[in-house]
Amino acid sequence: MIPAPRVILPAIMSLAPAQRRRLIAAARRAAQAAHAPYSKFRVGAAVLAGSGKIFSGTNVENASYGLSNCAERTAVFTAVAAGDRKIVAVAVYTPTRKPTLPCGACRQVIHEFGPKAVILSACRSRERIETTLDQLLPGAFGRKHLR
Ligand code: THU
Repeated sequence: MIPAPRVILPAIMSLAPAQRRRLIAAARRAAQAAHAPYSKFRVGAAVLAGSGKIFSGTNVENASYGLSNCAERTAVFTAVAAGDRKIVAVAVYTPTRKPTLPCGACRQVIHEFGPKAVILSACRSRERIETTLDQLLPGAFGRKHLR
């Protein structure tokens, strides 16, 4: 039986279906460029920025394991480096049976530029997770704490 896609309503309403499809497709394409010779766990991410542009990224591992970078952070840093500092949504794609959500470090990095961002996780099955960053990182540390 094909599992029903998992859905959390408020997040779904804020992205048009075509935008959601484009974002997931970009994340899926990005996963093909993964440099994951150590974990063999390929991840692709795509950021929908405030400008409407999409920036993608992949995980880039290193022989010195701790220097590896997640796909989500690669995508966020690419958007910011291009001058797009508002993150509206992030899609994550893994070629797995179950969708993967951003790790804790990536949640914190996404919070910096998109505290209310929509987070979409997709995988090779039809299962999806749709949620928001504030649901994934409640009580987040942010710039307001530095004032
Ligand atoms: N990884 C990501 O790219 N994003 C996540 O949210 C979780 C983990 C990568 C890091 C590493 O290259 C591999 O997946 C295994 O942890």
